[in-house]
Amino acid sequence: MGGFSSLVEAALGGLYFLSERNSMKLFQFHLGAAVLLACLSLPVPAQNVEAGSKKAEPCLVCHGVNGNSTLSAFPILAGQGMRYIYLQLKDFKEGRRQDPSMDAVVANLTREDMFDLGAFFAAQKMGNSGFKADAEKAARGKAKADETLCTMCHLGELAGQNEIPRVGGQHYDYTVKQLKDFKARRRTNDAGNMTSVAKTLSDEDIDNLGHYAAGLH
Ligand code: HEC
Ligand code: HEC
Repeated sequence: MGGFSSLVEAALGGLYFLSERNSMKLFQFHLGAAVLLACLSLPVPAQNVEAGSKKAEPCLVCHGVNGNSTLSAFPILAGQGMRYIYLQLKDFKEGRRQDPSMDAVVANLTREDMFDLGAFFAAQKMGNSGFKADAEKAARGKAKADETLCTMCHLGELAGQNEIPRVGGQHYDYTVKQLKDFKARRRTNDAGNMTSVAKTLSDEDIDNLGHYAAGLH
């Protein structure tokens, strides 16, 4: 492994430590991260993507070719942020996030594996899930997203940034499950960012937001 990847990994670890997944610090963290990323704005070294490509083989049975899953219970990983993927793998491994399919998968992953897997999936292009959004529900979902400031964190078209996931174009079923899991506090690895938003959403809001998000492909 070259010095660059160690540097990036050290930076990732440092950023993660600094952020402590603390919502109060999230915004300060973004400033720091922006400066750091500006310094590190070199492309991810090809060897990480290449190593990740081999390590990703066991993932594709569920997450699909290049991470473009065709089954809606499995999240699309193609084009998802590298840092977000890395953090989720770390959270699964350390028990902060749980899922019967993922728990076994992460058991033997090293930090380097997680970083390479993140680099690989982030470098893939997200395809069109083929979801046909209901236009009225999607419009109500967009209005709700504007009102609840989803884009303050997830950015326009819910494209995601750094450790905040891309939700635009993700499968409807997966997104709805996550919002319900946050609401019911079955998923709590978000430092309160999502559990606090989700508890204000009705099931109808979640359905509308799902149509809006899944229609953004
Ligand atoms: C047996 C099926 C299965 C396999 C194999 C599998 N996954 Fe998953 N993965 C899932 C499911 C199901 C979820 C969604 C869990 C939930 O609903 O919260 C998931 C979630 C994830 C997430 C979180 C995505 C997000 O948007 O939050 C990441 C990252 C991930 N998997 C990476 C991987 C990687 C990397 C591998 C291979 C090393 C892998 N998975 C192998 C089923 C699988
Ligand atoms: C204060 C910032 C913030 C706001 C506002 C916010 N989110 Fe999030 N969201 C996050 C973060 C951070 C995560 C990742 C949490 C983690 O690390 O597990 C996330 C995760 C998610 C996920 C899970 C995605 C996946 O791949 O598993 C969905 C879905 C989501 N947000 C949708 C929304 C919607 C819809 C809104 C508006 C109703 C919203 N978010 C508002 C910060 C925010």
